[in-house]
This record gives sequence, C-alpha cells and structure tokens, in this order.
Amino acid sequence: MSEFIKSSRDGGVAVITIDNPPVNALSPGVPEGLRDAIQAEAARSDVQAIVVTGAGKTFIAGADIKEFAKIRAGERPRLSLNPVANAIEDCPKPVVMAVHGTVLGGGLEIAMAGHYRVAAPATKLGQPEVKLGLIPGIGGTQRLPRLVGVAKAAEMCAFGEPIAAAEAQTLGLVDRIAGADLLADAVDFARSVRGVPRPRTRDRVEKLGAASLDALRQQVRRRLRGQEAPLAAIEAVEAAARLPFDEGIEFERILFEQCLHGSQSKALIHVFFGERAVGKVPGLPAGTPGEVREAAVIGFGTMGQGIAMAFANAGIPVSVRDNSDQALARGMEEIRGRYQGAVAKGKLDTAELERRVARITPLGSIAEADLVIEAVDEDRARKRVVFSAIDQEAKPGAILATNTSSLSIDDLASATNRPREVIGLHFFSPAQVMRLLEIVRGRRTAGETVAAALQLAKRLGKTGVVVGDAPGFAGNRIYHAYRREACLLAEEGTPPEAIDAALTEFGMAMGPLAVGDLAGLDVGWKIRRAHADLRLDGGRYPQIEDLMCERGWFGQKTGSGWYVYTEGQTPIPNPAVLELLGAMDGLRRVASAGEIVSRTMAALVNEAAKVLDEGIAARPVDVDIIFVTGYGFPAWRGGPLHYADEWGLTAILDQVRQRHAGSDAVWTPAPLLERLVKQGQTFSEFRAEL
Ligand code: 3HC
Repeated sequence: MSEFIKSSRDGGVAVITIDNPPVNALSPGVPEGLRDAIQAEAARSDVQAIVVTGAGKTFIAGADIKEFAKIRAGERPRLSLNPVANAIEDCPKPVVMAVHGTVLGGGLEIAMAGHYRVAAPATKLGQPEVKLGLIPGIGGTQRLPRLVGVAKAAEMCAFGEPIAAAEAQTLGLVDRIAGADLLADAVDFARSVRGVPRPRTRDRVEKLGAASLDALRQQVRRRLRGQEAPLAAIEAVEAAARLPFDEGIEFERILFEQCLHGSQSKALIHVFFGERAVGKVPGLPAGTPGEVREAAVIGFGTMGQGIAMAFANAGIPVSVRDNSDQALARGMEEIRGRYQGAVAKGKLDTAELERRVARITPLGSIAEADLVIEAVDEDRARKRVVFSAIDQEAKPGAILATNTSSLSIDDLASATNRPREVIGLHFFSPAQVMRLLEIVRGRRTAGETVAAALQLAKRLGKTGVVVGDAPGFAGNRIYHAYRREACLLAEEGTPPEAIDAALTEFGMAMGPLAVGDLAGLDVGWKIRRAHADLRLDGGRYPQIEDLMCERGWFGQKTGSGWYVYTEGQTPIPNPAVLELLGAMDGLRRVASAGEIVSRTMAALVNEAAKVLDEGIAARPVDVDIIFVTGYGFPAWRGGPLHYADEWGLTAILDQVRQRHAGSDAVWTPAPLLERLVKQGQTFSEFRAEL
C-alpha cells in the first residue's frame, strides 16, 4: 500500500485516508495509491461502500504544483490522471468523498470522480487552476458542468473563485453537509447508499443544456485582461455540452497542455511560490515570533484609517490617536462609511461591520499595545517627535513602526531608546485593500522584530517583503525609475494617454501617469524637493510634473493632473498639460507602443538590478512579488525580473547601454546586469552573497 494512503474498516464501510502533508496534494504516488486502495477495498466481500477522506486540515488541495516545472522540463511524463479518476468512478461499490478544508483543482476533480460528496460546513470547493495559468486537467471541465450546469461551471473554471459548501449543495456539487463529525456522517451516508446503483458523474447529461457564454467571455476579457487560461477554461467547459465525455476529456487535455507549456503558467506558478518564498527570510531567529495582540495607530488621516481597518479586519483591537478630536471623529465616520459600502455590496453583514468598528478605539491607551505604528505627515522633524513620545509611552518590548515611504528608519530609530524594536511598515494605499507590506529593516532592527512583522503581515492577509533602509526602499525606488521614463517620453512628444495605453495593454493595472494622478502628484513633488541631493550628475530629470504642481494640478484630488476629472465622466487628457508639453524644448517624437514598453521596462529592470546589488532587496523574487502585489504588475508576466529573464538580459543590457551612451547617467548599466550577461546567467540563477 502507498505510504500516503491508509485504509481501515468501520462495519461494512471502508475508510481510506489520504495523508500527504501539508495539503494532501496529488504528488506522485498519491492518486495511484488512492486508486489501488479503492480497488483493493472494493474487492473485499466484507466492504459494501467506501469513504475517502483527507488527513489534517484539508481534503486534496490540488495537483502537486511543484510537478509542473518538471513536466515542462521533460523530467516527468505528461500529467495523466484521467485513468485514475475513471477507475475511481468505475468502482463497483459506492465511493463517498468526505471533504473538508480547501477542495481545489485536482482535489475537486477527484472528489467529482466519486459517486457522492459529503462536506464539512466550512469547506471551500473550486477549480482555481486559472490562477496558475492552467485549466483543470483531470476532467474538471467535463464533470463540473454535469453536476452544476454549463454556465456555473464555466464561471467557476474561468475565475477560479471557490464556493462555500452550502452553495455547492444547492448547485448539486455536494450531496450532504455534515454536522460536527464529518467522518461519522460520511460513513452513515455510505451505509445508506450501499447496494443502491451508484451514479457516475460522466453519465449525467441533464444539466448539459447549451448556454451562451459570450457575456462571460466579455467579462473575462475585461476583468482578467491579457490572460489566456480563463478563455481556454470556458472553451473546455463549453465542449462538455457538445462532445461525448471521452472526447471532451481529450479536448481538455490538449488545452491543458497548451496552457502548461505556455509562458503565463510558468509566470503565475513563479508568483505562487514567490509569494510564499518572500516570507522565508534567511538568517532570522528560529522560534515563534512575538504576536501582536493589540495595536495602536498614531495619525488618523487616510493612511492611518486604512491601517486601523487592516488591523480591525484581522480581529486585532487597535487604539487610534490624532492631535485633533475632529480628525478622530471624521476618521471614524469615514471608516464606518467604507464598511457600509462593503455591506451595500454584500461583502460584509452589519453585525460584522459593528464588530470591526468596535475594535477601533479613538484615544485608547497605547501602553498595552504590542505594536505602535505612526502614520503622521511625511515630515522628518514631526515623525521624530512622535517617535520619541511613543517610545516613552509604549511598554518595553513593544515594536515601534513607521509607515514612512521616504524617510530613513535608522534616523527615526535614533529618536528612541529601542532601535532594535524599530521597523518600517510601508503600507500601500488603500492600506485596508492593498496586499503589499514592505517591511523595512533598519541597521539596528533586531531579527525578532523582523520575524514578528512578517508574521503580522500574514495575519493581516498581506504579503510582507523585507527590504533595506535606503531612499524609496525597494518598490518606490524602482517604480520611480520606470515613471521617470514615462514622463520623459511625454516631454519628448509621445501623448500621455498613449503612454498609459501602451503599458495597460502590456498588462499594468494602471498607466504610470494615471497612477501619479491617483496618488497625488504633490507627493512626488515634495519628495523630489526633499531629496534633491540624490540626483545624479549628468542624469536627465523630467520637469513636467514640477510645472504641473506649481500650477496646483495635483491629479484626481484637484480635478486636474495628467487628465481632467469631472464627476461621472471618463477622464480626458488634460489640454493644459498638452500645451505645457508642447512648449517644452527638445525632441518632438511619438514613440511606438513597443518602444514605450521596452524603454520603461528596461529602466525598471536596470534599477531593480541596482537595488539587488546594493542589498536593498535580497532576491529577485522579492522584487517580483513587490511589483505584482503593490504596483499592479501583471502576475501572468511573473513580475519584472521573471519577465526580464523571458525577454533576455542581453537585449535589455544592450538597450541600457545605448541609452547610457546617449549621455544620461541614470541609465548607467547595473553592475549585476552586466555580470549576469557576462556569465550567461538569468535573474532566477542569482543568489545574493549573504
Ligand atoms: N502543490 C504543492 N504544494 C502546495 C500546494 C499544491 N497544490 N498547495 C499548497 N502547497 C504548499 C505551499 O507551497 C506551502 O509550502 P511551504 O510551506 O513549503 O511554503 C504549503 O503547501 C502550505 O501552503 P500555504 O502556505 O498556502 O497554506 P495556507 O493554509 O495558507 O493555504 C491552500 C492552503 C488554500 C491550499 C493554498 O496553499 C492554495 O491555494 N494552494 C493552491 C491550490 C491550488 O491552486 N490547487 C490547484 C492546483 S493545480 C491543479 O490541481 C491542476 C489539476 O487540475 C490537474
């Protein structure tokens, strides 16, 4: 018997347990072992029905994602688990799948090959393969529509969002919701169906009526712009309605393999493992990090409110302070308003709204807080005063964090008597929504503090990435290099909207100029003035946004920036900015979409290589995840450095050198980029010397 599979008997019911921690993935040996165990139990005369369950926190959470790279590289044969699913379905005795936890991808496909499904109440079921750039590959696109109908199956396979057990029961995917003891209920259920002719999902045709999926396709093209797998998933589900089962399975296989060997699945799988890798920082102390049970936020503007909401959403009580009572009252009102918006959209119920609001206490004590974070104005002197005050008030051992996006952590730490407990927590706006949390480690920040911040990020549902303390940290520094090119392109004659269009077409969530308008152009203006000393001799720096700010055009908040914003209307390019641009000296030339993308991306990659070389980001994957989770970089391109590897580092370096030769010091080639090209290596092969 397989090492992953255990069998026992309970009266006339065999119980087969899959045990492949942590998530019972279908690693080699698991599906085959399951099939063999089912066949062995079915052959016994004292067994009349079979229950399959998963050990630990979940039933099978999917195929083993680590295997896909090996299949792609030819180290493993192609995925061929349909015969296993068919053998389970052909079992002459009823097979009841007792499911709990996250029944995802191949896990749901195996569950659907069983004859019945009994689910624990909190179970989530779904086909999330598209999130890895794949489609279901063990018959999911053929069995799911037979159970829930073509339209619902297409939606589930295209968006990859799991559904709850109760909905699954209504749809016909689950036969029974268990009580507190899943296994006991599943065994009872199995007894009740022994001897009854077992239904095979593949034979069910009653829900296979044709459905028009055009509207879904349009929605997918809009919401998942640029992604191939969701459209392939719809095509495969659609085929279930027109082809016999076995032909449908073959159709699915062809599309699955196309996706598996395409660049998007490689990129998305890189992001899947990358999101988990960033949390594992070499050299941190072993042991469980200190837990944040209570928090405090100082400064209750937009950022402070968002941070307070992030804590409240995660169930952590948070005190908030501001130097004006009005600001506190207004902040609480705005928070309530945002939660009410979520209630109106059906994302939250009113009881939960009240619970979350109740976790936020204006003027509460900070003496009990395990972490105090300041989110006051971005002003060095002010922040130092605040830091020194909270150092006096906070309990010993409490972490003092700053949400600065541009000031030095070491400098702020020097205003306290506890530099080991001082850290940067750079939330992105809106803080209650954005996934990225840059965790900025000062020179004296203790490993324990970093570990606690990483754990906090996870609890807040954020992706924490540890970066070094240098101007702009990792993300903003690299993003500014990319935005600089966008502004220069505009100054040289390319229409601003063409620049944004080229980059959104590339896959960025928003164009860089529209992002400036959203964030507030005055923010960058202030930082540019405060850090004028960081400008390189011989570097070109765009003027246009300074000119705009001098005129009070700060973007969306003033109704005009790169675009003009009128309530209820689509923003239009700002004619006054076009006039300013037209009056600027120099080149007048419209760059093509290809040139816009290659120039801005080469700048981004070159700067990222400098950031790696300087140790501000430790690993290329850290940069990739920062950009995917915080800057709207398309996950299906894997992040900028994964994309750079695909693009080819030699081509990028050639472009960097050409631009540098055009006498712009900002384009000085990154030594790391030069080294990698010289050694014929890629970013994925880069290992920092720690
Ligand atoms: N294959 C391999 N490893 C997996 C895995 C999988 N399907 N799912 C999770 N893991 C690993 C993670 O990499 C992580 O490893 P680490 O501890 O070494 O970093 C560990 O299991 C725990 O995972 P999480 O940290 O993500 O644990 P959570 O409890 O937060 O989440 C989960 C659990 C909801 C199952 C989440 O891991 C998840 O969403 N996994 C992916 C599920 C998925 O996409 N399934 C479909 C796979 S593709 C497929 O099935 C194709 C088929 O149709 C042919």
